[in-house]
Amino acid sequence: MDSRTLSALKDSIRSIPDYPKPGIVFRDITTLLGNPGAFRRAVDELVHPFAGGRIDQVAGIEARGFILGGAVAHQLSSGFVPIRKKGKLPHTTVSIAYALEYGTDEMEIHSDAVKPGDRVILVDDLIATGGTATAAVNLLRRIGAEVVAACFVIDLPDLGGADRLRALDVPVRTLIGFE
Ligand code: PRP
Ligand code: ADE
Repeated sequence: MDSRTLSALKDSIRSIPDYPKPGIVFRDITTLLGNPGAFRRAVDELVHPFAGGRIDQVAGIEARGFILGGAVAHQLSSGFVPIRKKGKLPHTTVSIAYALEYGTDEMEIHSDAVKPGDRVILVDDLIATGGTATAAVNLLRRIGAEVVAACFVIDLPDLGGADRLRALDVPVRTLIGFE
């Protein structure tokens, strides 16, 4: 991506200080999603390395990963697998607890959501500490997926999440960094 496009994409994201807690600068992608050019560009950039390859499923993390992951799955002609907060999936699930930048939570996946050896990419809007994405990778691996990559629009590199995922042998793609 050229530097003008990159800065337009970055400028489309709204930053909200002290949300949801004092000291957190919340990176709000609703303004990117509401900007047709920025939304299309972000999805195109996430898809780019995988176009023409075999991706069986795109796994998206609730909630913002559903929006981006659904669009990525459509462009790759892949299936979509939701990774949801606890208690939302109706069939047999595998679940895992995880720590967040601002709290803790539990997430689940349907135990039959992939076939053994399915090539899966994980999509979310943002990686911070990597707690959410690490838990998602562990869930996907537990049900037999091959996690080909994890893709995020936003990286908060100071929080080390992308490095944490790479240490699990997951290639990581991020589009924009906020220091
Ligand atoms: C946000 C974001 C990621 C996660 C990243 O979701 O969309 O999923 O935090 O944080 P981490 O790398 O420190 O784990 P959040 O848990 O706020 O849920 P939401 O999308 O339902 O608002
Ligand atoms: N998830 C974790 N940290 C976040 C942040 N700073 N902005 C938006 N979503 C987040």
